[in-house]
Amino acid sequence: MRKSFVAGNWKMNTDSSSSVTLVKDVISGCSEIAGESVDVAVCPPFVYLQAVANAVSATHIAVGAQDIFYEQKGAFTGEISAGMLKDIGCSYCLCGHSERRHVIGETDELVNKKVSAAINGGLLPIFCVGELLEQREASQTEEVVTRQIKAGLAGLHNEKASAVTIAYEPVWAIGTGRTASAQQAQEVHALIRGLIGQIYDNELAQQIRIMYGGSAKPGNAAELMAQPDIDGLLVGGASLKAEDFLAIIRAAA
Ligand code: PGA
Repeated sequence: MRKSFVAGNWKMNTDSSSSVTLVKDVISGCSEIAGESVDVAVCPPFVYLQAVANAVSATHIAVGAQDIFYEQKGAFTGEISAGMLKDIGCSYCLCGHSERRHVIGETDELVNKKVSAAINGGLLPIFCVGELLEQREASQTEEVVTRQIKAGLAGLHNEKASAVTIAYEPVWAIGTGRTASAQQAQEVHALIRGLIGQIYDNELAQQIRIMYGGSAKPGNAAELMAQPDIDGLLVGGASLKAEDFLAIIRAAA
């Protein structure tokens, strides 16, 4: 049985005060179920990670970073390593979020290095994949997602791959209010699970968690979560309002 997982990606939002207020509201609203029937994580901007990690320290809510760099230390101005994130209390990190792929220009090869570095540094990567609107319209979803999955997990043997959570986030559904239908999402989730079975084995395919992301909200969370291959939700905009994020967590629990 795969435990549901809901993660909030705060992106470049909040400030030193509102980040702590937000996480405290999340804690008080879901302490009964977090870590029991649903795993919960929040991913604040780097500069607020420490404060948020302190706020969740005695709870079952986890903290994740939105990105990492693949080297452990050294002359990499501006970058943050997995070890540093682990040191301040992070458990997860996003790798290859579509905004990093398409706004910052991260390649499959770079994302692969980050996924690998996260695992080697003791973090649990949330490895993001998903097609652009023009790729979906050109019927290239399967090809794009297959390429991203194979490239992102390249070189990771079975045991390491078991630390990965995959997030399917169709780029056209992110921040647009245009959610993939539960059926559209399920189709791609089933494809991804099948790929994990091919690359690794059926045991890992059944065990690995695959989250959906892209305009997830209280009104669609239950229907998405009812799909057999949707194990969780990666929530952007709606994770910035404690009330909405908590409603999503409850729908997933
Ligand atoms: P959204 O973002 O929920 O605002 O669409 C999801 C994400 O980018 O992770």
